[in-house]
Amino acid sequence: MMIHLTMIGSGNLTKTFVLGWIPHLDRLHMNLSVLARSEKYRQRGWEAIPIAPGLNPEILKAANVIILSVKPKDMGSALKEIRTYASPESLVVSVLAGISLSTLTDELPGRAIIRTMPNIAVAVGQGTIVVAESAGLEHALWPWFKQALDYLGHIVITDESLVDPATALSGSGPAYVYLLLQAISDAGQAMGIPAELARNLAVRTVRGAAEVALDNPEASFDDLISWVASPGGTTQAALDRLKQLQVSNSLREAVLQAGAKAAGMSMQTTRVQQLTKEES
Ligand SMILES: NC(=O)c1ccc[n+]([C@@H]2O[C@H](COP(=O)([O-])OP(=O)(O)OC[C@H]3O[C@@H](n4cnc5c(N)ncnc54)[C@H](OP(=O)(O)O)[C@@H]3O)[C@@H](O)[C@H]2O)c1
Repeated sequence: MMIHLTMIGSGNLTKTFVLGWIPHLDRLHMNLSVLARSEKYRQRGWEAIPIAPGLNPEILKAANVIILSVKPKDMGSALKEIRTYASPESLVVSVLAGISLSTLTDELPGRAIIRTMPNIAVAVGQGTIVVAESAGLEHALWPWFKQALDYLGHIVITDESLVDPATALSGSGPAYVYLLLQAISDAGQAMGIPAELARNLAVRTVRGAAEVALDNPEASFDDLISWVASPGGTTQAALDRLKQLQVSNSLREAVLQAGAKAAGMSMQTTRVQQLTKEES
């Protein structure tokens, strides 16, 4: 049977999902479509991808799985489209940061909903996809959708309380890594390495370092550092300076800040919902 999967929203994250799935559509028996609100998607190089500008009731009616991939501030209109047109039998998947399952369930009563937190590495099959445990995982299409997610990366099913922290760690995480890459490749250039080579060395270093950490789950991060740094050597000189600049503490605080923001968004939407209910 062909499964119709529709993504609402044609932004950065949707594009990464589409890029990740395009090579596997036949194997998954997936008919993939994207609903775009405006013509802005044209600026994002969507030529190769089936896309439906504007509201498209027929596509929503046919969808077996719907992924809600808009910014939290725009979710009201997208949820209304789902309520109005989508089959009650369909499976609704959220990738929204900071929007709880209870908020989504209140907005879409009686529907099967799954809350996830992916990251942009799904585009290359290397994503980290956190999925909240919920009744939505009992939907008949969850096994199929899980298989579809398997093509996009590593799935972790966990209690919903960990989704906001995971949003800060792995959802936003690629951005922190790019900041690190920028800094080390800038330093390379400052020492005379041509820009393209500096970028290549930096990026491949991060990929290789991550692979070593994955291959050695028993090694602590301190152990891994000790495999590189010898006393009085070049690495140790950099590590001493990083310690002096309190870089680890700063990074830790930055991730906590993202976690607080995600948790704050959850609380804010719940409060707005309560107020709306009290007023009506
Ligand atoms: N980017 C990431 O790395 C990442 C990682 C994890 C989770 N997320 C979550 O993914 C969601 C999307 O993020 P993003 O980075 O892709 O945002 P984005 O690039 O701003 O894209 C959002 C898209 O939603 C569209 N949209 C808004 N309302 C719509 C509606 N009613 N119908 C159809 N399309 C509608 C917007 O249309 P226009 O083009 O017309 O503005 C835009 O294309 C967010 O909730 C975010 O929390 C993102």
